[in-house]
Amino acid sequence: MARAKISVIGAGNVGASCAMWAAEKELGDIVLLDIPDKVGVAQGKAIDLACCAPIERFDCNILGTADYADIANSDVVIVTAGIPRKPGMSRDDLIQTNVKIVKSVSEQIKQHAPDSVVIVVSNPLDAMVYTAWKTTGFPTNRILGQAGCLDVARFRTFIAWKIGCSVEDVSALLLGGHGDDMVPLPRYTSVHGVPVSQLLPNEVIEECVKRAMVGGGEIVKLMGTSAYYAPASGSVQMAEAIIKDKKRILPCAAYCNAEYNVGGYFVGVPAILGSGGMEKVITIDLEGDEQKLMDDSVSHVKDLVKVVADLFPELA
Ligand code: LAC
Repeated sequence: MARAKISVIGAGNVGASCAMWAAEKELGDIVLLDIPDKVGVAQGKAIDLACCAPIERFDCNILGTADYADIANSDVVIVTAGIPRKPGMSRDDLIQTNVKIVKSVSEQIKQHAPDSVVIVVSNPLDAMVYTAWKTTGFPTNRILGQAGCLDVARFRTFIAWKIGCSVEDVSALLLGGHGDDMVPLPRYTSVHGVPVSQLLPNEVIEECVKRAMVGGGEIVKLMGTSAYYAPASGSVQMAEAIIKDKKRILPCAAYCNAEYNVGGYFVGVPAILGSGGMEKVITIDLEGDEQKLMDDSVSHVKDLVKVVADLFPELA
């Protein structure tokens, strides 16, 4: 049986970290692709990573390349291409540059890996997923965005730190776009089945919610560029669910129409991921403020998509 194949577009910090987590999990053969000017970086990182194999004990081929023909027959393509944030920038400030990059990458994916499931990581995330969808013309089940896995992992980490328990025991849910208005849901957060509200005071939960919402920005401020270990880890968590047909319920940017009254956009929701890509959006009941916060976040996503459509009317 042939190994699965994962291609990662962009050999920067996020891309290389995706390749690393995928190799470490032995998910399949890996292609790390960058533009011709940076092919040496892609090739160098691929060799460096391949030489971890005897130590970390994985068997797979890792190829660094600038040639899109090498992504042929990929099961999953992870798109990390684009510029990252610098201190003081919001994810939205990247849109003018990154939409062009994600559009041109998506044209190549359409041509060379037409049967793949695409996981977009580039920011501003929700608008870049939309760009990939419109450009590839792939069915909505084969277009996804990574954000929720990262955002919820941050939230779970902060909750676990406050409780002093294992992160593995914290289970949480988060909705909305991958902006500072994302919607962590304490009411759906539990620790080994116990509602978090029984274990932490409200103000501490609220502190964790706020920290998760600006978790990306906290790191940009500290190190001058975007986070990469956790964004990559979240992407590979999704790739693993798809490649192994695990049917995991993971929060991710998925196409929602009637779901949550979104009306045909990609936004963060819990979804079942398996060999069919995004197999089902899970809808949950929202109460009180939750629906309003979700609506506000979705309306922000729609504004970003409008910027894309204004720049490239053919993507409208
Ligand atoms: C973050 C970037 C990757 O949240 O969006 O760290």
